Amino acid sequence: MDNEYDQLTVPPDGRSPAEQPRWRQDFPIDWPQDEYLTRREFIKFLLLTSAAFSAGQLWFLVADFLQQREAALPAEVIARVEDVPIGGSLIFKYPAENSPARLLVRLDEERFVAYEQQCTHLTCPVIPHVVEGELHCPCHEGIFDMLTGRPLSGPPRRPLARVTLAVRDGNVVATGIEKRTV
Ligand code: FES
Repeated sequence: MDNEYDQLTVPPDGRSPAEQPRWRQDFPIDWPQDEYLTRREFIKFLLLTSAAFSAGQLWFLVADFLQQREAALPAEVIARVEDVPIGGSLIFKYPAENSPARLLVRLDEERFVAYEQQCTHLTCPVIPHVVEGELHCPCHEGIFDMLTGRPLSGPPRRPLARVTLAVRDGNVVATGIEKRTV
């Protein structure tokens, strides 16, 4: 088998391949040089692809971090437990007075749930149907699960944002907002 250097054409000016002008290096006429160039291009492609992938992963981490920071809201009393009967509900604003309306629902002696009140389809206000365990949007018959806020039927595809709650000293306290995409 030939040594690969035996397969190289001697350039017209007689200088070594490394001393040749750039255009002659980029468009080799010999197979060994051409394969070397192809490997080099392939490695460059792999490095660029890896860098793009890493940058994408980093962006998701940063976005996730920012979203969690955004969700760090102040705890705020929204009702006294005794003021909301079992099966009852009330509208409140959180975290500020000019925030969108939220809906608090008392499910039983112990449990409360709270969600944004606007339907994720076209923002009509949802209505609690506690016995059925559903939140109903009358505009286009959208139905959300009362325990999770996830869409069950109708046009809505995204869950309602959930207000996280705690019960402290006889008060229902809003502690944050959990935005979800699924
Ligand atoms: S706005 Fe709620 S289902 Fe369309």
